[in-house]
Amino acid sequence: MPDPSALTCVRCSARYPVDRYADDCPACRTAGAPANLTVAYDQVPGADLGRDDQRQRPRSMWRWQAFLPASVEQSVSLGEGDTPLVPVPDLGLGDVWIKDESRNPTWSFKDRLASSALTMAKRFGAKVIASSSSGNAGAAAAAYAARAGLPCIVFTFVGSAGPLVLQMRAYGAMVVKVSDKADRWRLQSLGVREFGWYPTSPFFGPVVGSNPYGMEGYKTIAYEIAEAFDWSPPDWCVLPVCYGDALYGMWKGFEDLRAVGWIARTPRFVAAEVSGSLVAAMASGDAMPPDVPRNAPSIATSIGASQATVQGLDVLRRSRGTAVTVGDDEMRRWVVTLATRQGIWPEASSAAPFAAIERLRAQGVIAPQERCVALLTASGLKDPGPIEMALPEPPLVGGGLPELMAALENTYGFTHG
Ligand SMILES: Cc1ncc(COP(=O)(O)O)c(C=O)c1O
Ligand SMILES: [Zn+2]
Repeated sequence: MPDPSALTCVRCSARYPVDRYADDCPACRTAGAPANLTVAYDQVPGADLGRDDQRQRPRSMWRWQAFLPASVEQSVSLGEGDTPLVPVPDLGLGDVWIKDESRNPTWSFKDRLASSALTMAKRFGAKVIASSSSGNAGAAAAAYAARAGLPCIVFTFVGSAGPLVLQMRAYGAMVVKVSDKADRWRLQSLGVREFGWYPTSPFFGPVVGSNPYGMEGYKTIAYEIAEAFDWSPPDWCVLPVCYGDALYGMWKGFEDLRAVGWIARTPRFVAAEVSGSLVAAMASGDAMPPDVPRNAPSIATSIGASQATVQGLDVLRRSRGTAVTVGDDEMRRWVVTLATRQGIWPEASSAAPFAAIERLRAQGVIAPQERCVALLTASGLKDPGPIEMALPEPPLVGGGLPELMAALENTYGFTHG
């Protein structure tokens, strides 16, 4: 594995020391386009390996250690990654595959981020992990901190409830609520600056994205997809996007593979978002995606933030991709369709790519023969509310067969034979 040699700005490429992971690029912030840092290696990652060597290693995202900032032995791992790529030819969407990240240890793609971030936290000697999240990022940080033997503080919002917050608590995180959302970042910032807490999530605005070392974990999604298609990447990768961390990480992963000559071309990317921030930036040509506040909350709370990042926008531009704004009704419809017709139950946010593919196929942006991979980022059990409303209440029946058959017909429209 190559040792990180610097952190560099995703926008202007300025170089910073490897331990500057809790800051963005000051030059780009002054220029009005705050930008995250990303990990740079002097040695080209993966350069000294053949592409088929990767298959031999134990299954986890750390089998790609030649591209990551630490080795398998150093990793804080729960066996994350190596998730299935499932074809879904019967959805009427053409050649579509689901990269099912709900099969990760805490049932979301954030495990890749948390595993990589916590691995580096240990390497840097961090004593406390901090995350501001009401959702999957906080749950993953809590689990991997437990695995690493480090205390973890998760800042959530007073309105946050349900399985995700319970998940954080179950993994032993110190969960604290704030009533003003801005306080989450303020408190985490103070902890990071005063006490050296190690941040895994964004914690200052305008948001630039997550811990750069964590984002390296998302590169492995690209490696797995390329390998599964025998090094012939799909035409499009379609992701539910909020800050664009996974978008950037996957793009960087495909670029790594092209740099070492394992693939000849990289996919185009689609951001399926609820805010419309990237849609607006793609239309205006601005350097920074605008803040587009919503009037009402989305059912896809995981991707509910109102402003995207420079790095997400950059990937769309560089890959000749596009952004699509999706609404509650179409996400709910796709959650139900995927669960009832394919046996795959996504969180509402993870249904957004299917609504986007549907629209882009209809518009001819994605051509009929082109192959798409939809990133299913998290399991439906994380936030079951949206689908519960769309399903019939199970009927209460007595012991008789006629009564049962009547109930099946009335509630589910089922008749025998
Ligand atoms: C389930 C799920 N999908 C997608 C996202 C979008 O994340 P990002 O755009 O930062 O990769 C999130 C973010 O928290 C999430 O929890
Ligand atoms: Zn910069």
